[in-house]
Amino acid sequence: MKKNLKIGSVITFLDSVDSTNNYTANLIKEKKIVNGQVIMADVQGEGRGQRGTKWLSEGGKNLLVSFYIELDNLSVKNQSRLLKFSAVSIFDALTSMDLPAKIKWPNDILIDGKKICGVLIENQFIGQKIKNSIIGIGLNVNQENFEIEQVTSIKLELKSEQERIATLGNLLNAFNKNLDLLHTNPDCLDQSYLLNLYKFEEEAQFYSNLLGSFTGVIKGVDSDGKIIILHENNFHHFDLKEVKFC
Ligand code: BTN
Repeated sequence: MKKNLKIGSVITFLDSVDSTNNYTANLIKEKKIVNGQVIMADVQGEGRGQRGTKWLSEGGKNLLVSFYIELDNLSVKNQSRLLKFSAVSIFDALTSMDLPAKIKWPNDILIDGKKICGVLIENQFIGQKIKNSIIGIGLNVNQENFEIEQVTSIKLELKSEQERIATLGNLLNAFNKNLDLLHTNPDCLDQSYLLNLYKFEEEAQFYSNLLGSFTGVIKGVDSDGKIIILHENNFHHFDLKEVKFC
């Protein structure tokens, strides 16, 4: 992380865009972006989620944002720090609003088992170092009806309409507070991540191509960001494509 970084000192508001992550990547290519810049859109035509999924969001209701961060010295082998940093920061922002959040590996945020927020982190590399990162966040704020089950929003949970810009402010406060830790005390972020991790140290059902459906216990997340699951006395490390919760 570069010195004096403040996320959100420049914020670009867009009515409509294909994807805020794509828009941010184009600004990087054109060298028209500053470190810490935030891109926010009301509507995304081609919002992207993890595992190649689409991110659907009702126009003008939610937060669709990308944070652009330049990094000095984060090696590829420590890239999980970024996912922990973002998950813990979103967790902190939501708990500051009295929402009983949990982090679901890698960086979904749940309220009572329902997804309220997803994150898509896209990094650019120079050799073995991460040069910069686009942290794309989809946070359900005022949407009340969803096409899929097990999804919620802040309005549904708190039973009141939310000011989206105030919610963005909460997110930015939490991210900026944790920036120092990313640099100076990443272990503290690790601890906070594990402490608030959904199903950590509990038996849970998973599916992997290797093992089929299986029962295991989450033991942690390694420095590559892979989840570590104990199954029949073996520690298995899975990446996002290799395992899912049942
Ligand atoms: C997930 O699958 O859980 C990740 C969803 C990430 C969605 C956000 S919305 C803003 C940013 N732009 C995108 O196209 N995706 C991310």
